[in-house]
Amino acid sequence: MSLRVSMAGKSNKADRTIYECSACGHQEAKWLGRCPACGEWNTLLAVRESKATTAATGQGGQHRQSLPLSAIDPAEAARVPSGSTEVDRVLGGGLMPGSSVLVGGEPGIGKSTLLLQLAARAQVKGRVLYVSGEEGAAQLRLRADRLGLKRPDLEILCSGDLAEVMLVLERLKPALFIVDSLQTMLSADAGAVPGTANQVKYCAMELSDWARQHGSVCFLVAHVTKDGLIAGPKAAEHIVDAVLLFEQTESDFRFLRSSKNRYGSTDEIGLFAMGETGLQELSDPSSIFLVRRDGAAPAGTAVAASWEGTRCLLVEIQALTVTSKAGLSRVYSERIDAARVSRVAAVLEKHAGLKFSDQDVYVNVAGGMRLLEPGIDAALAVALYSARTGLAVPAQSCLAGELSLAGELRPVRRMRQRVKAARNLGFGRVLGPAEVAAEKDGAGGDWEAVASIKELLARLFK
Ligand code: TYD
Ligand code: MG
Repeated sequence: MSLRVSMAGKSNKADRTIYECSACGHQEAKWLGRCPACGEWNTLLAVRESKATTAATGQGGQHRQSLPLSAIDPAEAARVPSGSTEVDRVLGGGLMPGSSVLVGGEPGIGKSTLLLQLAARAQVKGRVLYVSGEEGAAQLRLRADRLGLKRPDLEILCSGDLAEVMLVLERLKPALFIVDSLQTMLSADAGAVPGTANQVKYCAMELSDWARQHGSVCFLVAHVTKDGLIAGPKAAEHIVDAVLLFEQTESDFRFLRSSKNRYGSTDEIGLFAMGETGLQELSDPSSIFLVRRDGAAPAGTAVAASWEGTRCLLVEIQALTVTSKAGLSRVYSERIDAARVSRVAAVLEKHAGLKFSDQDVYVNVAGGMRLLEPGIDAALAVALYSARTGLAVPAQSCLAGELSLAGELRPVRRMRQRVKAARNLGFGRVLGPAEVAAEKDGAGGDWEAVASIKELLARLFK
């Protein structure tokens, strides 16, 4: 068993800790507040000199020596189901042994709930350890009981001391471990107080290193404030293999997105609803962002067929325009990038003869979903047009397509699947860009193809 300085708390020659400046790479034998080489403050991080020596002598883990590619067993990287189809989806097919995942989100959003469910349900072969620096063991037990979770051999450790956690890891050798949260972990080797960038970075490095060397999966929880990632967790982002962000809307829905993923794409989203018994998966969410009404939809709303990762979601976009005061027009849009709203409004002003430059524009998305996909341009344009003119979009119509500055409707990926999803939900009319010739095969190509925003508006409103 090779315990390192930080774990055992005692030093020996082969395992010396040195300090390296994260800005310029300068090395010092002692920790300093300011790097003498580049003058940056708080950039010196502890690194182990032993890394180089053990690699040279051939000691340590199996990854220390180079191997021919063909000699590496691909089974070592086989995915393990996490027990949640939505988490699997976002990670790109399941848990990757040896990887580390940072889960960020605002306090109270459900990170601990999600990870306790994961700890109890992941289909890993081996022990599972849940480290909590925030809650007591009895609290965790109560929560697990309330969630109906069953994994009697789930190990719980309530500690915020990194050295203690590392010792338990060495003893237990878990196949999956969760550290909730990174900000409550403290290592005497990283100086200062818990929660600082240095501490968070150091603890993330130690924990993810351990996971990599032991083929274990590690989840690290990070609290994030409203203004986005605060200094601490941001510092840990490039240490881990994947960064997942847990977001909430005004409803009970929760979105899990990845902003970084070494082993999969980042455009998948996971969808959950927070209920009495924890987080429920929304396995068929295509219609939850639609607004059901008895009568016709009011002016200012349009439905987009949006492609999110590997599935189509139908989402209602809502717009409102009012004459701006003092001649200064503004865009208020949280769910769709405001710059994009301005661009689409400019295209409408130029190609549909509508004046937006004296209007305040408000844009929202039903259910609070954040839309990043380019294919929602057409619906955004139609919602803005409808809001400005007071003409309602005919019932059962749905739109897809990217808008160019020249006013053309550009092709979007997976048009056929979008049409299919819309038809399944009862949309009689789907309007979108003409298909690229090369993709014209298979069934489902029955939508109203339009070439420009002008043509789209003419078809819908006349
Ligand atoms: P929690 O997982 O503690 O959030 P985080 O770790 O991100 O701070 O969840 C907090 C909220 O979730 C809390 O306000 C209560 C709510 N909740 C439910 O609505 N249902 C449940 O089954 C659970 C466990 C929590
Ligand atoms: Mg928590």
